[in-house]
Amino acid sequence: MFANIVVILIVSYIVNEVIDLQALVASARLTIFGSGNQRGVPFDPTHDIPSLAGKVILITGGAGDLGKQVAIELARHNPARIYIADLPRKDDGKSVIRAIGDALSDKHAPICYLAVDLSSFESIKKAAATFCAAEDRLDIAVLNAGIMRVRSGTTTEGYEIAFGINYLGHALLTRLLLPKLLHTAGLLGADVRVVAVSSEGHAMAPKGGILFDKLKGPCEDIKYYQRYGQSKVAVIGFARELAARYPQIKAVAVHPGRIITGMAHGLRKESLLFRVTAPLSPFFCVTVAVGVRNHLWAATGANVETGKYYEPVGVPDNETAIAKDQALSRRLWEWTEKELESAGFGRVESSKETSSQGARSTDSAT
Ligand SMILES: NC(=O)c1ccc[n+]([C@@H]2O[C@H](COP(=O)([O-])OP(=O)(O)OC[C@H]3O[C@@H](n4cnc5c(N)ncnc54)[C@H](OP(=O)(O)O)[C@@H]3O)[C@@H](O)[C@H]2O)c1
Repeated sequence: MFANIVVILIVSYIVNEVIDLQALVASARLTIFGSGNQRGVPFDPTHDIPSLAGKVILITGGAGDLGKQVAIELARHNPARIYIADLPRKDDGKSVIRAIGDALSDKHAPICYLAVDLSSFESIKKAAATFCAAEDRLDIAVLNAGIMRVRSGTTTEGYEIAFGINYLGHALLTRLLLPKLLHTAGLLGADVRVVAVSSEGHAMAPKGGILFDKLKGPCEDIKYYQRYGQSKVAVIGFARELAARYPQIKAVAVHPGRIITGMAHGLRKESLLFRVTAPLSPFFCVTVAVGVRNHLWAATGANVETGKYYEPVGVPDNETAIAKDQALSRRLWEWTEKELESAGFGRVESSKETSSQGARSTDSAT
């Protein structure tokens, strides 16, 4: 009897370790063999970004390391305006705007700060309303904000925090900005793009990719890197579905590479393993300048194919089998529609639906 209990305990320990081991192996594989984005199609932001004259651009997480650099590179090419959409700050984002301005020459595109907390539907609604009241068009939306945290938590509406910010908050923001994106797509010479920033870390998602039954709640029983992976599988699926439903918009997902940014600094505070391995990270990471090339290529480059995931720069289809699964992304879209509808946000008709009715809708979102 005692021997049986011991065997059961040992087996369940091993099974538990093996399950974790799979995620650890994925994590180690990504660290050693993952994409730093050094390879891929050549893309030099200084010369290869075309004129962005007249365009309005919005970058979530634009106050973070990658987002800020994306803003700096795009601002060099004369857009009408760039919105830095990031968490509310005491100085209303003035220091972020100043930092971007300092990196540029005297004359550059106007930069505006749009306060948004992607973990709160109310905040997203307010930010989208502010943007829509101020602008007639939206040409490029870079959905870049993101978190990777060891400690678990939930958003204001009770969703798992990484999923809520990295995916669901962006899905709601995009839905509320869709009328602007679709309106802009109808303008002469338009080239409207949504760049959803995923990660090669999507490979660390739990088995099945997205655990729909657990999304409402902190998912404490799932490792933090699996929660992050799940959110990034969702981001890839979101870009694919957005592209399929709104063909007049180019929607893609990208992996930036491994870069030591604010996210890594946050993780170091929380994780002993992260602190211990920190001295090794420079060997596996690239600079911010390299890390933003995929964002920039996807937002402005030639030959960007809608609905694809790119890793490294300009190289499609390297996502995992579960992230490629169209049944999963369709289920995610439907799940999202239901959740947002029950929170009071009406559906936006897809182009397919409207064209079959012989009309094109541009402003049916609430
Ligand atoms: N760095 C990498 O190696 C790497 C690899 C793969 C993918 N990525 C992805 O790249 C994107 C950019 O990350 P990063 O590396 O530049 O990290 P970062 O410096 O931490 O930037 C992330 C930004 O998102 C903002 N943010 C966090 N929570 C938010 C919320 N609730 N609402 C609105 N904004 C929020 C952060 O604001 P605060 O700083 O004020 O919290 C920060 O400005 C993320 O989506 C990340 O998953 C990064």
